[in-house]
Amino acid sequence: MIEYSGMKKDRISAADKIIVALDVHDHNYAIELVEKFKDYVSIFKVGLELFISSGPKIIDDINKKNKKVFLDLKFHDIPNTVTKAALAATRLGVYMFNVHTSGGIEMMKRCRDKIVEVCLKENIEKPKMLGVTVLTSLTREIITDELGIRHGLRTQVKHLSGLALKAGLDGVITSVKEAEIVRNHCGRGFLIITPGIRPSWTPPDDQQRTATPKEAIRAGADYLVVGRAILQQADPINAIELIILEILSA
Ligand code: C5P
Repeated sequence: MIEYSGMKKDRISAADKIIVALDVHDHNYAIELVEKFKDYVSIFKVGLELFISSGPKIIDDINKKNKKVFLDLKFHDIPNTVTKAALAATRLGVYMFNVHTSGGIEMMKRCRDKIVEVCLKENIEKPKMLGVTVLTSLTREIITDELGIRHGLRTQVKHLSGLALKAGLDGVITSVKEAEIVRNHCGRGFLIITPGIRPSWTPPDDQQRTATPKEAIRAGADYLVVGRAILQQADPINAIELIILEILSA
């Protein structure tokens, strides 16, 4: 087992790229998982299932363990509603949260500006605001045939990332397959968070645009969101260690 305190700096920064998706509904079980992984992982993702079943207390309880929360509720509504929800999340102490870029520039910008203003006034650390581009469970066929977006997946991700940049967001969530396009289009310093991570030893499940941790880092990802490839393994700590090694080898 890796001793976090004894981990070399490069191993720690590799581990810091992993965001564990707490895709469970039980509060106590989620906290047990945080406790189990806390020596390896700094950021835990709280999504719809856990937030709806646990409520805001889950954020407080993770923060009390000195761990950061990525609140993945993918806000998608009118500017006023998204801004108020984002402010509530900010005051709860989240480290990152996200909105759908397809909500448009005005929604993203109004939300971002209000957060900057309130954080300054109330002396709160500004959370990182991320934009969801195209879900990693969607394919080119779904995008074009079902959703009627004519110009295809890569162009759509590039376009939506550009909107997020223009609105002043800190970065986007996108599949590894489009990470390089986003990096080229939005430049260095723009955060790229990639879900759909599947090391060679895991099945794709419902994800369509998957990639290995090594591919993600090589494509320019800053953070890797990993759920089932850790949680559903017989030995999750070993899975984390293997992912850290893969990140290091990239
Ligand atoms: O288990 P798995 O690693 O596929 O989980 C991926 C996590 O990332 C899930 O919590 C999912 O909601 C989230 N996510 C995603 N695609 C996006 C944004 C978030 O899969 N575009």
